[in-house]
Amino acid sequence: MRVAIIGGGPGGLYAAALLKRLDPERDITVWERGAPEDTFGFGVVLSDETLGGIEHADPVVFRALQREFTRWDDIDVHHRGRAVTSGGHGFAAVDRRTLLAILHDRCRDLGVTVRTREAAPAAERLARDHDLVVAADGAGSATRAAHAAVFRPTLTGHRCRYIWLATDLALDAFRFEIAETEHGVMQAHGYPYRPGVSTFIVEMHEDVWRRAGLDRLDEAESIARCEKIFADALHGHSLRGNRSRWIAFTTVVNERWRHKNIVLLGDAAHTAHFSIGSGTKLAMEDALALAACLHEQPGVPEALAAYEAERKPVVASTQRAARASLEWFEHLEQYAAQPPRQFAFNLLTRSRRVTHDNLRLRDADFTASVEREFGTGPDTPPMFTPFTLRGLTLRNRVVVSPMDMYSATDGTPGDFHLVHLGARALGGAGLVMTEMVCVSPEGRITPGCAGLWNDGQEAAWRRVTDFVHARPGSAIGLQLGHSGRKGSTRLMWEGIDQPLPEGNWPLAAPSPLPYHPHVSQVPHALDDAGLAAIREQFAASAVRGARAGFDLLELHCAHGYLLSSFLSPLTNRRTDAYGRDLAGRLRFPLEVFDAVREVWPDDRPMTVRISATDWAEGGTTADDALEIARAFAAHGADAIDVSTGQVVPDEAPDYGRSYQTPYADRIRNELGLPVIAVGAISSWDDVNSLILAGRADLCALARPHLYDPNWTLHAAAEQGYSGPGAPWPLPYQAGSRRPPTGRTDAPRPRLTLDV
Ligand SMILES: Cc1cc2nc3c(=O)[nH]c(=O)nc-3n(C[C@H](O)[C@H](O)[C@H](O)COP(=O)(O)OP(=O)(O)OC[C@H]3O[C@@H](n4cnc5c(N)ncnc54)[C@H](O)[C@@H]3O)c2cc1C
Ligand SMILES: Cc1cc2nc3c(=O)[nH]c(=O)nc-3n(C[C@H](O)[C@H](O)[C@H](O)COP(=O)(O)O)c2cc1C
Repeated sequence: MRVAIIGGGPGGLYAAALLKRLDPERDITVWERGAPEDTFGFGVVLSDETLGGIEHADPVVFRALQREFTRWDDIDVHHRGRAVTSGGHGFAAVDRRTLLAILHDRCRDLGVTVRTREAAPAAERLARDHDLVVAADGAGSATRAAHAAVFRPTLTGHRCRYIWLATDLALDAFRFEIAETEHGVMQAHGYPYRPGVSTFIVEMHEDVWRRAGLDRLDEAESIARCEKIFADALHGHSLRGNRSRWIAFTTVVNERWRHKNIVLLGDAAHTAHFSIGSGTKLAMEDALALAACLHEQPGVPEALAAYEAERKPVVASTQRAARASLEWFEHLEQYAAQPPRQFAFNLLTRSRRVTHDNLRLRDADFTASVEREFGTGPDTPPMFTPFTLRGLTLRNRVVVSPMDMYSATDGTPGDFHLVHLGARALGGAGLVMTEMVCVSPEGRITPGCAGLWNDGQEAAWRRVTDFVHARPGSAIGLQLGHSGRKGSTRLMWEGIDQPLPEGNWPLAAPSPLPYHPHVSQVPHALDDAGLAAIREQFAASAVRGARAGFDLLELHCAHGYLLSSFLSPLTNRRTDAYGRDLAGRLRFPLEVFDAVREVWPDDRPMTVRISATDWAEGGTTADDALEIARAFAAHGADAIDVSTGQVVPDEAPDYGRSYQTPYADRIRNELGLPVIAVGAISSWDDVNSLILAGRADLCALARPHLYDPNWTLHAAAEQGYSGPGAPWPLPYQAGSRRPPTGRTDAPRPRLTLDV
């Protein structure tokens, strides 16, 4: 088998060594256009996981690396003159040059041909006389570009600039240094990688970089400036470069990783922002997987298919974490005023992979000190701290997110609603929200949606709120909405957003645009009289809601329903005062808000649910969401419930763990508004992490509460918490511990006798 490898970085060299080791008969050539000594960058961090893989695959490389590793456990965050340390992390770093030298040696010993200072022939040409071509030619891969039609790469530039430097200051921890300058916030992160030498990467938003004039400086001048900015941190030590320049990180994603017998590996296939230290790790893990697949599969095509199938999901997950991390740094400025410990905790949990519980296990003193500063009582997880909105104090931070049950009759909630909402209130959430309760029969989504436009409905809701309030400390909120162009459709399980087969009612919207073109009914554009009537309906329902005893009212301005469709430029094409620009698009939702706020009791809070992005070209963006939130807050909204999407059917959401929380985070930290975060928050650990990091004030969970009505009580039991933030209903107290499982009746060994 003849193998050509383009690129002698860690990915290419390690793949070459492994392939040769697995089958010495293979004829393997690596082309590297640079000389071994002129590599970029300084130290790279490798995780224990990668090291485990390396140890098993090639102990020779592992032992050589072992000898060279610099290891440490702590992360120090220096901010506003304070140093906060979190321990127990376990890092290992090595000089990139040393890593490459070890891999070069290994390749030479195994009989791989490495042609340094020689550009590789084009992959297409190599593919003709080799069985396999591995394109490990880095983030700027020419192979990828040459076959872009097949690999379908997406290259996304980001808004920070960084420079990779080194210092002879011997750091003994991973160190984050935050510098608040007259131009904006900058950060450096450094770590040791050789005795007496540390990596020192300086990064900042490009606006700060320009304001500071760094865009006009060459390498030496940039280094001098960074030395000045971080003089305190460097304790008089100098910085040095290695052909260092200011770079904007580019995230590379490829739809396909293989083309005939050519395969992408490492940075050529994918990049992950260096702040989670994963690029080298991913490249070496790719090499491990590729070698294993070639070993296991009958032929090259099968091996490449298996390699792509194995690596793509793992890489996607790392890239999601890396993106969360880089976006955190892009918005660093918004966190600068956080108290030092919370800031450090926020920084450490930024990728959403490291959580409160992980950190607690690594260094309990650190999390305890963050919690003390935050104000949790002793033995009280952050999620069980109270939160106040106007006259309403919630006993914990968990909200049962609004969920339409499609189970009402003529808009009237029945026994199902009493049991459903009642069970969730018993289940311990601080606040239980109703589903979207519609303000008129035509404002319903489906014939099964609940409403609040007549006395019968008011009385039926009163029955629910009475049940909830029978237990002091439980609260229930009313979500009021109007379906707009998404109305007159079938029950969720009969065809979501599909028009009714019969009995349709006319739809109202800002503009006559159907939700599903050629499928949905075309709504009529509301005129002034129509707008006034709907405004009145909202106010009338709010009056009924107050009488029915709800503790909080949420205006549903999300998910493409009527008020949301006024906000989005994709659904509001009006040219009158209710359209045109964002101020115009906000006008009707704000009028409704004002009409409701006027009749809603002063001491009871109002929240607004928004779609903070449409996930669609030309739609609402995160920046628009800030303006929308700001406007509602100026009109008296007490908190913003930050959801996303469902505004247009051709959306492209970026799903993942807590994927909507960055939108809530920005509103909270840029505008200083209380927020409810929602969306794929599923573990109590996530809730604790988001609350303690100051990224959300409340966390709404929907589907987890369908799975487990007692979600909050179970979260308390699992954390050994039994305080006032999650009281078990008295009749349930006998069940307040998880039932034992795996019991065995087999006799236990009682005696050990020496023989
Ligand atoms: C500032 C910064 C900090 C980082 N820190 C870390 C860290 O701490 N931990 C970590 O794991 N990763 C880190 N990385 C990422 C890491 O450097 C890369 O992910 C890793 O080097 C990828 O390995 P690779 O072999 O795929 O590509 P590369 O290392 O980029 O190697 C590609 C090689 O291909 C050669 N090449 C390209 N085209 C040709 C051609 N036509 N012919 C011959 N040769 C060619 C190039 O010269 C290059 O040597 C960091 C990256 C940056 C930018
Ligand atoms: C069955 C169901 C019905 C829903 N109905 C509503 C609703 O009436 N109003 C609303 O704002 N969101 C509604 N949602 C969205 C949820 O409130 C929540 O934002 C979403 O499910 C993401 O949270 P999760 O990942 O915890 O499920 C509904 C979700 C589900 C699963």
